Amino acid sequence: MKDLLTRIDFAALYRRQARASSFQARSSADWGRRAVARSRGEKTSDYARQLLGHLDLAGVQTVLDIGCGSGNLAIPLARRVRRVHALDFSAEMLRLLRAAARAEGVRNIRTYRRAWADDWRRIPRADLVLCSRAMAVDDLRAALSKMNAHARRRCCLTMHAGPTFLSTEVYRVLRRPIIPRPGYIYAVNILYQMGIRARVDFLHTTGGLAYDSADQFVEGLRWRLGRLTPSEEKRLRAYFQALPHGADGRAFYRHDFEWALLAWEPPSR
Ligand SMILES: C[S@@+](CC[C@H](N)C(=O)[O-])C[C@H]1O[C@@H](n2cnc3c(N)ncnc32)[C@H](O)[C@@H]1O
Repeated sequence: MKDLLTRIDFAALYRRQARASSFQARSSADWGRRAVARSRGEKTSDYARQLLGHLDLAGVQTVLDIGCGSGNLAIPLARRVRRVHALDFSAEMLRLLRAAARAEGVRNIRTYRRAWADDWRRIPRADLVLCSRAMAVDDLRAALSKMNAHARRRCCLTMHAGPTFLSTEVYRVLRRPIIPRPGYIYAVNILYQMGIRARVDFLHTTGGLAYDSADQFVEGLRWRLGRLTPSEEKRLRAYFQALPHGADGRAFYRHDFEWALLAWEPPSR
């Protein structure tokens, strides 16, 4: 009998799970607005340090960083390899990345404004293809194939592995159910069907964001959740007031995450 596992359509299951989950993909304009807001906020997270500690850069001279954002990883990676190709669909994110690279004297990053679903024929192949926290796609199988097609040596992908993109505390305050989105499970299985045994690791990161005002806090949550009812907003404002406030008057919202880190070698062609 044929291996049943090869016949399950994990990409379709992923699509269903993603559409039902508590967090939906955002447009490039949404990400642009977030880039501006975040560049003003004070963010703390040990994610980049942890991920960079896990990356195998042996023999890697070039990196393709998909969904590079404002350069959290592209900039430190550019100091360790010959060239980083940084791809993102948000012009604002790429602008912030270029400004940060200039400010830090980093000159070996090339930026590409592309979405996952765009034509990537002119995007160069790289020794390492990295997609960190940016696998916001409808077609997971096509995206993984794209990573493979652009990788010379290895691929690395991180996907959210926890129950939500917000703290469970926020859902408790909202009185909303959490519909998790453990997308990495589908990715592991799709890769298996492609004949690839991905290694899976987990990163537990701590961090958070300091907010000047309840308005800023509620706006940030609206970005994640979409519409809020007046009573949800009222409860969130009360929750914000109870957060620990620093001497500068800003409130600190703590945010811990669990990320799945998948690493694999692309099939040889
Ligand atoms: C959470 S940030 C991750 C940034 C960086 N990779 C990191 O881990 O720090 C997600 C990034 O993916 C980008 N992104 C989201 N959906 C995308 C898509 N469909 N095509 C290209 N980029 C996308 C966003 O613009 C954003 O910069």
